This record gives sequence, structure tokens and C-alpha cells, in this order.
Amino acid sequence: MLRNFRIEGLKIISVVGARPNFMKVAPLHRAFGKYSSVQHMIVHTGQHYDANMSKVFFDDLELPKPDVYLGVGSGTHAEQTAKVMVEFEKVLVREKPDLVIVVGDVNSTVACSLTSAKLWIPVAHVEAGLRSFDRTMPEEINRMVTDVLSDYLFVTEESGVVNLKHEGIADEKVFLVGDVMVDSLALYKEKAKLSAIRQQLSATSGDRLLPRSYTLVTLHRPSNVDEKGNLQTILKIFQATEKHGPIIFPVHPRTRKRIEEFGLSSHFAEVKNLVLTDPLGYLDFLNLMMDARVILTDSGGIQEESTFLDVPCITMRENTERPITLELGTNVLTGLSSEKVIDLVEKCYAGEWKKSRVPDLWDGKAAERIARILVDAKTFEH
Ligand code: UD1
Repeated sequence: MLRNFRIEGLKIISVVGARPNFMKVAPLHRAFGKYSSVQHMIVHTGQHYDANMSKVFFDDLELPKPDVYLGVGSGTHAEQTAKVMVEFEKVLVREKPDLVIVVGDVNSTVACSLTSAKLWIPVAHVEAGLRSFDRTMPEEINRMVTDVLSDYLFVTEESGVVNLKHEGIADEKVFLVGDVMVDSLALYKEKAKLSAIRQQLSATSGDRLLPRSYTLVTLHRPSNVDEKGNLQTILKIFQATEKHGPIIFPVHPRTRKRIEEFGLSSHFAEVKNLVLTDPLGYLDFLNLMMDARVILTDSGGIQEESTFLDVPCITMRENTERPITLELGTNVLTGLSSEKVIDLVEKCYAGEWKKSRVPDLWDGKAAERIARILVDAKTFEH
């Protein structure tokens, strides 16, 4: 079906739901702000709802309050996805946007792309084409379904273009534009240096958090934190590596819940150099990332952020949907092997790490490219 954008301008809805979405939509909002012909609305599904998982990001990233808040909250995958669909459909029927933009790979991403496609509203997927080829990850299912439903597929790295080609997506729908998450990093790097987080944490840890003197940790994947044995492996890694300096671990609500459920809280508390904090805001976390000696993570986005910031990154997963961070960047995969992680942390504190470089097009201008492509497209096949 050929759909015309309205003559007087474009009405675009961008969807945010979970923490990793906010820093991707902020640069898009800024880029659309330069076009008087574009009305850009933000719909927040409420997948993440705690202030430190959501509101602080709006403040740090200077995002306006969402135009619509769906308040769906937590639930099983089916519950959460279904609730977003039911509520988002009402918004689409009322607002009749010309285009819906979804980012990343969370449940809100797939729910909103499916709802839009069923109403024949074109969908643009930002961060399309990434594949871990591991369907046990909910995000992989979300990525595959979203891509097949999307009309515009904006890709961060060459592997994404290749994956989409293999899946039979028409070339003219695919645009290699760079990484909107890097746009936010580039914009906020200087401001993040002013954060007082290191003084605050130093007061707790007793150690001054000098540049390159600490390890930064984020772990929240079900495959790492939903089993007691895996959390014990992580504990063992902390016990073996605390001798190098403070370990700063802002704990995701899922992880905190599991640590408590499995009765491991006191064991984590016994690791003297481990500083557990609540989840941190964007600027505070960026401040910590920039000067970390090494980052230990299972996040998707942090693999890219550490590559851009040139900070060693150990990813405790068996695979990655972001292979460029291994090929060019600072990232190394270890799975849940405590031996591998401990060995790599040793190497890192000994000053040994591979040389890296920032991938092409990760230059802070991805959102501008996306906005230009969408504004220039007056009609397209849906
Ligand atoms: C979601 C994404 C994941 C992303 C991560 C970033 C999916 C399938 N997963 O995982 O890709 O890397 O966000 O954080 O979309 N909770 C709170 N407060 C909140 C949000 C969550 O307490 O504001 C707790 C709830 O107990 C909830 C659990 O965390 O059940 C998990 O939240 P959920 O949104 O289901 O998935 P994440 O693990 O956060």
C-alpha cells in the first residue's frame, strides 16, 4: 500500500519504554526539533517506572515529559507486551500519526511495532538488524519481529545490513546511519564530567575513585541473575578481583530482587571493596564509565558505549548482537566463566588490552541522518 504523508507536515510518535530507550530517543527528539514541519510526540509505555530507571533519564537527557504515559508496568512477557498493545492502540487511533518510531529491542519495541503495523501505520526501527542468533534471549525475538514489520530500518553497524539482507528485507528499506546512543554520549560527555557521583561513592567506599582505579559492573540479564549458581559465580569473581580496587555495582531491580530471594545479600555485603548502589542516572553512570579501569557487564548498549569511550569491556555473555564491538572495539566475551573473567580483569589492571577504534558513522550525527531521511520521504510503500 502506498501511503502519503500529510501535506502540511509529519506527525511522528516515538516510543520509549525501558531504560535503554531514553538515550536513543533524546537525540531523535532534538533532531526533529529542527524541522518546523514535524510534530514529534513521545509515548512512554511505563515498562520501566521507578524514578531511577526512568524519570532521572528525562531530566539528565533534557527530554520533555512524555506526551502520553501508558503506565503498563511489569508482568510476564505476554502480559507486558499485551498491555502495551492494548494501550498503544488507543493512542494510535486517537492521534493518527504518519509514522511510529521504535528503538532497540525491549518488549515495548515489539509491542508498539506490531500494534502500528496492524493499523497500517508505517514503522521505523532504530537499531535494526542486530542479531545474536540466540533465540533464548527475549530481545532476539523482539528484534526479529520488529524488523520484519518495519518500513524503515536504521542500522548502527555493517553486520546489521548483512543480517537484514539474509532475512530478505528489501535493500531500499535499510539505512546504515550510525548509532543514536553515541549521539547522546558525544553530547553529554563534558557535562557528565561535572557529576559528583565519585565523591559521593568515595564517601561510602572509603577509597577515592581515581581515574582507572575501579571496576564498574552492571548485570541484569535473566541468564546471569535468575539462577542462584550464576549469582554465586559473580560473587566469586568479585571476591577474586576486589584486591585491585573498588568494584562499583549499581544494581538493577531484577538483580536486587534475585540476590535477596536467593539469600545472598550478606555474602555480597562481605566483599569489602564492593560498593552496591541503586541504579544511577545517565550522567552519573557516564561519569563512572569514562574513567573505569574496566567494565564488567551483560548489557547490550554498554558494549557500544565502552567502545566509543575506549574503556575495556568484559561482557559476560556467550554471544553478542553487536559484533563490531569485538572486531574493532574494546569488548571481549567471556560467558559466565569466572576463570576467564578473573584472568581478563588481571590483564586489564596490568595494563594489557587490545587496541581499538571507533566504528565509522559513530560520530554523534546519527539522529540527524535519520531525521533527514524521514523528512525527505514523502511517500513510501507500506
Ligand atoms: C528490560 C529489557 C532488557 C533491557 C533492560 C534494561 C525486555 C524483554 N527486556 O529488562 O532488554 O536490557 O530492560 O534495564 O524488554 N522493575 C522494577 N522497576 C522498574 C522496572 C523493573 O522494580 O522500573 C523490576 C520488576 O520486578 C520487573 C523486573 O524489574 O519485573 C524486570 O523488568 P522488565 O521490564 O520485565 O525487564 P528488565 O529485566 O528490566
